[in-house]
Amino acid sequence: MSNIHQELIERDRKVTFHASTHLRDFAHGDAPGRVITGGKGISIVDKDGREFIDGFAGLYCVNIGYGRTEVAEAIYQQALEMSYYHTYVGHSNEPQIALSEQILKLAGPGMSKVYYGLGGSDANETQLKLVRYYNNVLGRPQKKKVISRQRGYHGSGLATGSLTGLKAFHDQFDLPMAGILHTEAPYYYHRAAEQHGMSEQEFSAYCATKLEEMILAEGPDTVAAFIGEPVLGTGGIVPPPEGYWSAIQAVLDKYDVLLIADEVVCGFGRIGADFGSHLFGIKPDLITIAKGLTSAYQPLSGVIVGDRVWKVLEQGTSELGPIGHGWTYSGHALGCAAALANLAIIEREKLTENARDTGAYLQQRMQDVFGDHPIVGQARGIGMLAALEFSPEPEARRHFDASLKVGPRISAAALEENLIVRAMPQGDILGFAPPLITTRGEVDEIVARAERAVNKVTDELVREGALQTA
Ligand SMILES: Cc1ncc(COP(=O)(O)O)c(C=O)c1O
Repeated sequence: MSNIHQELIERDRKVTFHASTHLRDFAHGDAPGRVITGGKGISIVDKDGREFIDGFAGLYCVNIGYGRTEVAEAIYQQALEMSYYHTYVGHSNEPQIALSEQILKLAGPGMSKVYYGLGGSDANETQLKLVRYYNNVLGRPQKKKVISRQRGYHGSGLATGSLTGLKAFHDQFDLPMAGILHTEAPYYYHRAAEQHGMSEQEFSAYCATKLEEMILAEGPDTVAAFIGEPVLGTGGIVPPPEGYWSAIQAVLDKYDVLLIADEVVCGFGRIGADFGSHLFGIKPDLITIAKGLTSAYQPLSGVIVGDRVWKVLEQGTSELGPIGHGWTYSGHALGCAAALANLAIIEREKLTENARDTGAYLQQRMQDVFGDHPIVGQARGIGMLAALEFSPEPEARRHFDASLKVGPRISAAALEENLIVRAMPQGDILGFAPPLITTRGEVDEIVARAERAVNKVTDELVREGALQTA
């Protein structure tokens, strides 16, 4: 690493509190740092000019790839004209109007209005407030509990971190908050084996039964909403088992429970459809969007409110006056301009179709290379989302001892190959979410680098005696 790069990192260690970082180790020089200075296509570049293929599109968000000057140009032009004015009490800006029209067109029938925020966490915070407001207006003040799923990811605030069903987001923060519950994860790979070889359909029915039992135990008149990602993301990149969403939706309809589809990862093409809900026949009352909305060229998120909820919100303000909810930066003109330019690229370059077609190729290559690999328990995914779950005994779906840190070691080995892929939390799972512009040739390169990384760590594990044969 060059002196100039090293010096920047040393300055950073003294002053910056980094997300999801070992704070002591980073501050004291015991954990690595890196300064990113640019990017083009599917690659990023650090201060030394070292280039990495970004197989995770940032945090599954840079869907149109890096260095798209036309988005920069759209932001610049909007900034010259008008960077900001608030959107309270009916004020608007032209990009916001055009963007809402575009989002509602993509979302399809049944969706009424869009409210904007800056990130997925604050958008889900808005969702929770709308759910409360809705039931208060309907005269059901006791109907307030929200059911999420184990291993779901919905943000890291107090309420949204509570929705998240991962241990690290709860421990030491006194979460989850009261009134937020977690039901069975749609994790067929693990649970089916434990439940004596259920079929996917049977496992979906089992998940729906567990949800129904929870609603009945809590009392249906106390359960307001259910939130889920169409494809479980940070919790392991797990596509739903067959029949899952229709079974879940039937239970929610039976007990008048609102459905919030968290499309922060799936929305805008990542799994080969405009929304994950379209692919799985989910009929949400509320949709959360962020990430792919702007491909992270500006921070912007949104809540798409369906007709059923919107009618009640209108009724509420008729009775109570203007709604007491708003962020300073709601509908920020620069974010909306970036989103419009991003969505135009997705449409023009047919990136949703590419996510489906090249995504299918990615899934096939993962199966070809890792399907029978001695430490791969499952290669799974959909569209441009994929995961490898590691196991010392794939047949038995056994877990590696957590202290071996197999997932993080493989992701570190991939980095040596100049490939960024993500070690997912709670398990030895390697996540792939390349930009939607990725070509078949680039898929081959990503898979080849990943294969070298997996083989390197496999050999190490054999040498360490942690693995019998390979
Ligand atoms: C499905 C989902 N919802 C919400 C969030 C939270 O978004 P943010 O990190 O922008 O607050 C994320 C972030 O990864 C996510 O994956």
